[in-house]
Amino acid sequence: MKVTRAAAATALAAALVLTLTTAVSAGNDNDIARGSMSEGSLGDLARRHHLRVGTAVDMNAFHNDAVYQDRIASEFSSVTAENVMKWGEIERVRGQLDFTQADELVRFARRNGQQVRGHTLLWHNQLPNWLNEGVASGEIDAAELRALLRQHIFDVAGHFKGKIYQWDVVNEVIDDNAQLRDTIFLRMLGPGYIADAFRWAHQADRGAKLYLNDYNVEGISAKSDAYYALAQQLLAQGVPVEGFGAQGHYGVQFGFHTAFGVAENLRRFERLGLETSLTEVDVRMIMPTDNPKLQAQAQGYSVLLEGCLLVRRCTSFTVWGYTDKYSWVPGFFAGQGAANILDENFNAKPAYEELRAILTLS
Ligand code: GLA
Repeated sequence: MKVTRAAAATALAAALVLTLTTAVSAGNDNDIARGSMSEGSLGDLARRHHLRVGTAVDMNAFHNDAVYQDRIASEFSSVTAENVMKWGEIERVRGQLDFTQADELVRFARRNGQQVRGHTLLWHNQLPNWLNEGVASGEIDAAELRALLRQHIFDVAGHFKGKIYQWDVVNEVIDDNAQLRDTIFLRMLGPGYIADAFRWAHQADRGAKLYLNDYNVEGISAKSDAYYALAQQLLAQGVPVEGFGAQGHYGVQFGFHTAFGVAENLRRFERLGLETSLTEVDVRMIMPTDNPKLQAQAQGYSVLLEGCLLVRRCTSFTVWGYTDKYSWVPGFFAGQGAANILDENFNAKPAYEELRAILTLS
């Protein structure tokens, strides 16, 4: 076939455009939009790593503190509801679903070009009182509990269908002895409830990546081994589990894994075909703060971020609150606090600068 000059020139031009476009997009990695994020923010710097950086959002602070709300938009590419997507919040009264707060967060995220991590469809804590009481009194039997759980997952995952990029389908289903956690779900429904939860979530929202999520599973340990075995088993049964989330609640008094240790653990889940995420990162300390503790804290944050960046499919890194002004830690661990990357006045702590440096250098 005779190729005309014009055709050859067009082909050459097309090839050039393609090369240039590829080069430009590889340089900017625009698969994550900047949205409302400011230049040089954590979320912005993470774009070229194809990584979303998120924060948990406290909806009370969100409503009452404009600085808190603005910084969520300018710093992060992902948000998680700290509480308002939990069963106990959504269905305080049996049969009456209240999505007001969660919808507001989802709209905020959309306006600012952020994605939403769904947290969580099934957890043994923060369940509705009526459910705990019904089970305790025997009024709710196993068959009814199963029907309620199924309905809950369809209600919530269905309500947010298409708006959630990752769902923590089950949260903390393995205990600190690496056994399936003794909860009303395990006791009454048997171990199959985990597979059921993933299947129901998949039916309700095919678009979201479906996660196992827990604490103390950042490195290789008996507990993360138990998750590895669980993930293998679920996958072998064709259960649609797609992600493994390590919460990342650290304390400087306990020490940390190394970045390679975190990567080694995440990588084995990725070899099973899962993606991975750090889902609730914070690094608490025994109060008061001092420089060595703040430096140690920065190290805790950095090994988790580096571990994530060292593997191929770590897709999100979420901090569990970003300012010491609002944190679950002091209320939960007496005498501890200062777990976040900004201080109470929204000033950067060493941990914040460390995360920025890693995202810039790597
Ligand atoms: C766990 C849960 C979170 C949150 C923290 C503490 O990690 O997954 O939703 O409740 O505890 O606040």
